[in-house]
Amino acid sequence: MRKIFLITTLALAMAALALAGNGQNVYNQFCSGCHMANGQGNPGAFPPVANSIGSFVKAKEGRALLVHIVAFGIQGQLKSHGKTYSGFMPPFAQLSNAQVADLYNFILNEWNKKLLPKDFKPFTADEVAKYRAKAMTAADVLKERNALAPKVGVQ
Ligand code: HEC
Repeated sequence: MRKIFLITTLALAMAALALAGNGQNVYNQFCSGCHMANGQGNPGAFPPVANSIGSFVKAKEGRALLVHIVAFGIQGQLKSHGKTYSGFMPPFAQLSNAQVADLYNFILNEWNKKLLPKDFKPFTADEVAKYRAKAMTAADVLKERNALAPKVGVQ
């Protein structure tokens, strides 16, 4: 009995690790080129995703916003931590719902822990699917982002 319990615990721990690994792989492959390997970005060119985007998930709309950014891109002027960006991030339509969920669970849990609300729930593929069902332009995503950012203190 005890042995079965141990094996189950080990299997679950390994599955959790594999999931974290997955999100990190997606990040390294698709995001690190601009947002850097540690998520710090490049001031003035690429905004940080570390110690920053966790603030967005304090608001319910922020969860949708993060998915919109990856699914539809974001274009135009925004302010993050006192720096102005006027860039373009392309959409990553090729990522599956599960990959987007793993990706954000990785960025949020690894690099934004202090900013997350206490009741933070990890993203699931179903939740991601819901947010990306209706297409948006990269300019619309910017408007959504700039309406929310001051409310959650990313400016
Ligand atoms: C080709 C460069 C590039 C790549 C690759 C890229 N981004 Fe971006 N990202 C940007 C730029 C530029 C902005 C700011 C856009 C603007 O100024 O309107 C941005 C903005 C963001 C924001 C909004 C930050 C804020 O403070 O509002 C998030 C979140 C984000 N990116 C996540 C990601 C994730 C996750 C990936 C990987 C799937 C990724 N990015 C890949 C260039 C990139």
